[in-house]
Amino acid sequence: MSRDHVSHAEIARFAADRVNLPKDKADEYRAQARRLREKLEGYLDEHPDFTLKKMMLSGSLAKGTALRTLNDIDVACYISGADAPHSTAALLTYLAERLRKAFPNFSPDQVQPQTYSVTVSFRGSGLDVDVVPILYDGDPDWYGNLVSQDDGSFLKTSIPLHLQFTSKRKKLQEKHFSQVVRLVKFWARSMKQERDGFRFKSFMIEMILAKLCDDGLDFSDYPEALQHFFTYVARSDMRERIAFTDYYPLSTIKASSDTVQIIDPVNAENNVARLYTQANADAIVEAAIDAGDAIDAALAAPNKSLTVAYWQKVFGSTFQV
Ligand SMILES: Nc1ncnc2c1ncn2[C@@H]1O[C@H](COP(=O)(O)OP(=O)(O)OP(=O)(O)O)[C@@H](O)[C@H]1O
Ligand SMILES: [Mg+2]
Repeated sequence: MSRDHVSHAEIARFAADRVNLPKDKADEYRAQARRLREKLEGYLDEHPDFTLKKMMLSGSLAKGTALRTLNDIDVACYISGADAPHSTAALLTYLAERLRKAFPNFSPDQVQPQTYSVTVSFRGSGLDVDVVPILYDGDPDWYGNLVSQDDGSFLKTSIPLHLQFTSKRKKLQEKHFSQVVRLVKFWARSMKQERDGFRFKSFMIEMILAKLCDDGLDFSDYPEALQHFFTYVARSDMRERIAFTDYYPLSTIKASSDTVQIIDPVNAENNVARLYTQANADAIVEAAIDAGDAIDAALAAPNKSLTVAYWQKVFGSTFQV
């Protein structure tokens, strides 16, 4: 492998400059989510029977895998199930109404129900906070019914256990696990821009990389780790079941006819890739084969400009070294 023109160091620098959300921004957005959570806690102190029980940062900002292009802050809100509406649309109206009550300093138009979440907008600086409802019945591990951001259905899952799952892999390959997650997400983002109908959910990418991590793949060399990811996707044809034994034995997973099977690590009955069709899977495999070929070509290219051109096939035209 020739790495004279673009090697691990150049990919790492590209990630720092173009891919990752800068630390000061991440800190600022986390603080914004914390203030909202504390506001709710203050309200709950005075109104202990209030039905919104907790707000929790979730998603990439919580996991340290956010891209620079992050455009909202994901926060999960636990709603005690007994009195809340159980249809998605009514639940969102209800959540917005309750949030307006708990945050009287926000004008009503700053709290808006969307299709599957409620947006809280801050005047001036900061990003919007995207509040996703979870129907909750007091489970100590914070299992609850999360409103899917893909189709509004209810998914039984636990956000804190997801964070624990990811943080275990992050500890095994410090810095590198999250960095490779962000690089692959950046690739997927570029594919979404270039290829019609391309979809590849971040959580699925993260689970595939967690599997490769558990299989012993070393993430510390980025071109190699990327190549392994693309090779795995191509070889498995996205038709190999991915599942983990952190929270349940594999024997509890039921047989299924879903095309892509990436099982929620905290709930054996929840296939995270349930909505992915044969065509969706084929498009991912094709894009992975192209990316793998481009990396091979980049590593064999005779000069810098050709090398960069091949890497641009992976990461888009913003790739520069
Ligand atoms: N199908 C699902 N089943 C269970 N939990 C899910 C599912 N989809 C998302 N989640 C939860 O929501 C979180 C956010 O998922 P998402 O795919 O938006 O990834 P992300 O890490 O926030 O990436 P991005 O930077 O693209 O927003 C996950 O970490 C997980 O806790
Ligand atoms: Mg997210």
